[in-house]
Amino acid sequence: MRIVILDKADEAARFTADILIKKIQSKPDAVLGLATGSTMLPVYRELINAHRNSELSFAAVSTFNLDEYLGFAPDHPQSYRQFMKSRLFDLIDIDQSNTFVPRGDAKDPLQECRDYDRLIEEKGGIDIQLLGIGRNGHIGFNEPGSGFMSRTRIKTLAPATLEDNARFFGDNEFRPHLSITMGIGTILSARKVVLLASGEGKADAVRAAVEGPLTASCPGSALQLHANAVIVVDEAGAGKLEHGAFYKYAEAENRKLLESPGKA
Ligand code: F6R
Repeated sequence: MRIVILDKADEAARFTADILIKKIQSKPDAVLGLATGSTMLPVYRELINAHRNSELSFAAVSTFNLDEYLGFAPDHPQSYRQFMKSRLFDLIDIDQSNTFVPRGDAKDPLQECRDYDRLIEEKGGIDIQLLGIGRNGHIGFNEPGSGFMSRTRIKTLAPATLEDNARFFGDNEFRPHLSITMGIGTILSARKVVLLASGEGKADAVRAAVEGPLTASCPGSALQLHANAVIVVDEAGAGKLEHGAFYKYAEAENRKLLESPGKA
């Protein structure tokens, strides 16, 4: 894993956005895996700015979101489809018919899950999968206990997730407790995965994912199995890493190598 520790959350978001921007520049029809959640907002702002200021075009890009609340139609104000529309899709030149989010209102949700995995394959697989991480180590809505080989399926939200997501819902509003989520196996099939985490509240999850044992108790630890995983964290999120100083040194060396490969 490449572990990149940056001082501030906005630098970490910019670094993450740059990875996506470079991919789109080198492969205009890139297939991106996207996430929702507050950590992603500054990343999406960077992508929107790149579109406006440097005319980065998303016209040929396809996207697959990690998850959606089961039961929510795409036009539900709290659906992840609406999150993506208002935070990114409506603000760039993407062809919305190339943006995929599981249908929470599918008549046959199990078939929807199978179709979602098939569609990803038909599009040639995901070039870069963007990920956040929950306080409990979840990626997508793969809560503790999720199998590392799992594909897109229905998952029950863990109590910690319900608590964390309560902030997005009004007092008397219905709060979904089920989701359709890409599986960990689906995520690991992406050619590259980039996990972004920021803030002290994520420090335990980051430590468990990066340095802990491979365990279903921390779904993020599955990323240790990926051959091309980048973990981007701010200082606060990196605060509990045992080998944080080493990762910074290794990353500095890595950059020297990338800048002048001949000198190695
Ligand atoms: C949402 C998703 C989740 C979030 C995670 C962190 O699509 O995949 O795994 O990435 O819950 O959420 P925030 O960024 O709000 O802390």
